[in-house]
Amino acid sequence: MERINLHDKEFRIFIPFSKIEEGIKAVAQKLNRDYKGKGAPLFLAVLNGSFMFAADLLKHIDFQCEISFIKLSSYSGTSTTGEIKELLGITTPVKGRDVIVLEDIVDTGNTIVELHKILQDKEAASVKICTLLLKPESYHKDLPVDYTAIEIPNDFIVGYGLDYDELGRQYKDIYVLDTPNS
Ligand code: IMP
Ligand code: MG
Repeated sequence: MERINLHDKEFRIFIPFSKIEEGIKAVAQKLNRDYKGKGAPLFLAVLNGSFMFAADLLKHIDFQCEISFIKLSSYSGTSTTGEIKELLGITTPVKGRDVIVLEDIVDTGNTIVELHKILQDKEAASVKICTLLLKPESYHKDLPVDYTAIEIPNDFIVGYGLDYDELGRQYKDIYVLDTPNS
């Protein structure tokens, strides 16, 4: 599909699944190298947006690992509210564990900074951030983003888990908001 309509907005194809898969395989390779022989780390995927990324990434992970989920939310419509809500807490013990946070996208970074704090409070042994997408123009935090599959400009995107007001998560490809001047 070249174009999709969600609510009042139109989106056009931006990143085809083949390119997403390429980025995911490259990140999995780095993780496989870095976590080889280090026990079983815990992947902590941030719902809802990272469900597809988590599913596809883990198929390429060759070390022993666990996965759990946390639900956080900061977005309303097409912009961030700055306030992070914990909608579903961590149910797995993280004390003394190596944790790899899985995010769909890092934009302002408010979400990962908040989550990093939560995990430090819970005394995780280490916390690394792994994201499918990063908006470098928007990210100005000190916290390093350890693994990034794809960098994108500061545009609003949907698909492959990402939504516009809860619609559009099911698409295999990623779409960008089609503004008249772009
Ligand atoms: P941050 O806290 O500003 O880094 O935003 C992170 C969260 O906002 C992500 O996990 C997404 O759920 C959401 N988000 C950021 N940018 C976009 C976008 O372009 N499309 C859809 N959701 C986004
Ligand atoms: Mg998210």
